[in-house]
Amino acid sequence: MRLKGKHIVLGITGGIAAYKSAVLCRLLIKEGAEVKVVMTPNATEFITPVTMATLSKNSVLIDFFKHDDGSWNSHVDLGLWADAMLVAPATASSIGKMANGIADNLLITTYLSCKAPVFVAPAMDLDMMAHPSTQRNIKQLASYGNLIIEPESGELASGLEGKGRMAEPESIVNFLVDALDPKKKSLAGKTVLITAGPTYEKIDPVRFIGNFSTGKMGFALAEVLAGQGAGVVLIAGPVHIKCHHPNISRIDVQSAIEMQQKALEHFSNCDAAIMSAAVADYRVDQMANEKIKHDKNQSISIQLVPNPDIAASLGQIKKEGQVLVGFALETHNEQAHAQKKLVEKNLDFIVLNSLNTPGAGFGHDTNQITIIDSNGFEAFELKSKTEVAQDIVHRLIRLLN
Ligand code: CTP
Repeated sequence: MRLKGKHIVLGITGGIAAYKSAVLCRLLIKEGAEVKVVMTPNATEFITPVTMATLSKNSVLIDFFKHDDGSWNSHVDLGLWADAMLVAPATASSIGKMANGIADNLLITTYLSCKAPVFVAPAMDLDMMAHPSTQRNIKQLASYGNLIIEPESGELASGLEGKGRMAEPESIVNFLVDALDPKKKSLAGKTVLITAGPTYEKIDPVRFIGNFSTGKMGFALAEVLAGQGAGVVLIAGPVHIKCHHPNISRIDVQSAIEMQQKALEHFSNCDAAIMSAAVADYRVDQMANEKIKHDKNQSISIQLVPNPDIAASLGQIKKEGQVLVGFALETHNEQAHAQKKLVEKNLDFIVLNSLNTPGAGFGHDTNQITIIDSNGFEAFELKSKTEVAQDIVHRLIRLLN
């Protein structure tokens, strides 16, 4: 009985995998959950409401109004009742509507009213799943903090491997149990923004000013956060790393200005932000529109102007309950400098990277950090970047819960 007493709204949309929702419903009830089913009108073509009502032991909701007496089926009450909403199967169409707030049926209005964690199990033809539009909508849902239950693999029409078949009911239930267990997934329903990597500041169409940041620390943080159940918005400068977890929504940018724009756009929907990017402090004042030609006999100079401080700009608009985390890379007077940044940027804590430790910092797979907040500091040993990410995420979890 791993879901004892949990209220689960099971949303069923119109795909062939809807037949699996019957098994799913039975498994949820076997685990001790109370289940209320909402179906889209199309879903009723694939599985009958009578089946779902019998299995869930509750009447099934489909329409905004009850046809016999005209009374209102309240999606708001249902959204408030839920400890979790699970949309399984989620078709491409419903995912698109959820991502864009197109509330034309009771299931989508319930989704929009739901305050609890929402789990989405996509199920569709593999080529539909691979389409950039579907991929974008899924990423969009992940960026709202919804948890995507990855579909299973199969062969695309092109002969290549792809994903689309809904995860098996047993896997879906296990995913829910893990995510709803406060000890295991402490960040279910939370959204965290991360900046990562370097920024490139253009000099002319073919040249830029950049730095050696690889983005490894930020990407490790993104994976650990997503693994803890968070939706992650990862704003990445130019880097050569891939992210893996489906709940990471990646936005690629080049310059500090672009990175700031994206960060400001997303921060208000986030519970926390971790600023791990190595943002260029300056950009070229006047970028040349054409390639600068060289002249052996002449030196040239480039006028640089300060870039905005992204961390500080989020610090200024940070609301009660939001957590802001920064990094500091120092070579001397480390703690004093880091403490100054903590205050100036209105951070909740700052992660100090010492360049004096061999194996720590840019390009390495290991890092040695000290976490500093207004109460003091905690020093950690030299560890892999993934383990360092875990230490940082544990501190964040303490502040968010
Ligand atoms: N930061 C930022 N935007 C900038 C500069 C820095 O968001 N334009 C963030 C970094 O992501 C990091 C922290 O601020 O979290 C680092 O602060 P910064 O004052 O830039 O530190 P250093 O780069 O170490 O700066 P300095 O050269 O002043 O030591």
